[in-house]
Amino acid sequence: MIEVERLTKTYGDARGIDDITFSVGKGEILGFLGPNGAGKTTTMRILTCFMSASSGSAKVAGYDIFEDSLKVRSKIGYLPETVPLYTDMQVPVYLKFVAGLKDVPWKKINHKVAEVMEQVGLTHMAHKFIGELSKGYRQRVGLAQALVNDPEVLILDEPTIGLDPKQIVEIRSLIKGLGGGRTIMLSSHILPEVSMLCERVIIIDEGKIKAMDTPDNLMSRLHAAGRVQARIDGPKEKVLKALREIGGAKKVDVVSDSGATSMYVVEFADGKAGAHLIPRAVTSGGWDLHELTPMRLSLEDIFIRIVTEEEIKQ
Ligand SMILES: Nc1ncnc2c1ncn2[C@@H]1O[C@H](COP(=O)(O)OP(=O)(O)OP(=O)(O)O)[C@@H](O)[C@H]1O
Ligand SMILES: [Mg+2]
Repeated sequence: MIEVERLTKTYGDARGIDDITFSVGKGEILGFLGPNGAGKTTTMRILTCFMSASSGSAKVAGYDIFEDSLKVRSKIGYLPETVPLYTDMQVPVYLKFVAGLKDVPWKKINHKVAEVMEQVGLTHMAHKFIGELSKGYRQRVGLAQALVNDPEVLILDEPTIGLDPKQIVEIRSLIKGLGGGRTIMLSSHILPEVSMLCERVIIIDEGKIKAMDTPDNLMSRLHAAGRVQARIDGPKEKVLKALREIGGAKKVDVVSDSGATSMYVVEFADGKAGAHLIPRAVTSGGWDLHELTPMRLSLEDIFIRIVTEEEIKQ
């Protein structure tokens, strides 16, 4: 449904995105995750034909974004980073205006606008001017304008940014309900958000794709590196030395001290499970082992590791 090949955008001398290739299947919900300046908005603006690329190609719903941009626009719904809303228009008036721009047949406009307002929970705001709405409700208007042409593909640029926690939950569940055969690409820098909403995640940083996988696979790929937490009662320098000498231990750190004991994190390389070697190293030093726990990496850890370019085993 979305096919992107070697897409590159430079702004003068500045990097926008650099040689990006990926595809999104019909009905798939793809998360586009990256820190500020990663290139998320740049990619989305190119795919929605709001901006040209410097090189590369892309197709959306079977149409080339450069050659058939009008067709592409008719197939997509786009929620930009900042939605250009007309604050002095009432909600349905604005949505009818957008529907007209998007070539929704005039006979269907009233029905379609009522339908999307219902879908995004705006019906009771019909009499309000957009300028009177809270940020969460404005975001709903943004979603409604993206949906009003019944698009096959939805492109949502940080749909929950700037909202309070209650509205974040509401908008997320709204987005979840928008799938149903529709292809959705959504950008975020909130990790739990993408793992909650998306079947597949692309991690982008500094204009390049750093990883592409399901949230579960991303986690298990990194788990393979194996990290274990051990609380040990013993002289710190000697314990550190003994732990570092364990076969396969790649990295050992002290993370906290409490009384006589210290908490160590031992990381094993190449998927080697070495936790069982820790008790032996501790007892042969004559020290005591108080706790030994395998560590689960959160998506947060994974993200930081990927964007700080620690190697992930393929
Ligand atoms: N109009 C522009 N002129 C010059 N450089 C730009 C322009 N727009 C974006 N850039 C640069 O392109 C890079 C990617 O920006 P982009 O807005 O796509 O990132 P993003 O992932 O959407 O970030 P954010 O999370 O802050 O929204 C950044 O280095 C940015 O400074
Ligand atoms: Mg952005």
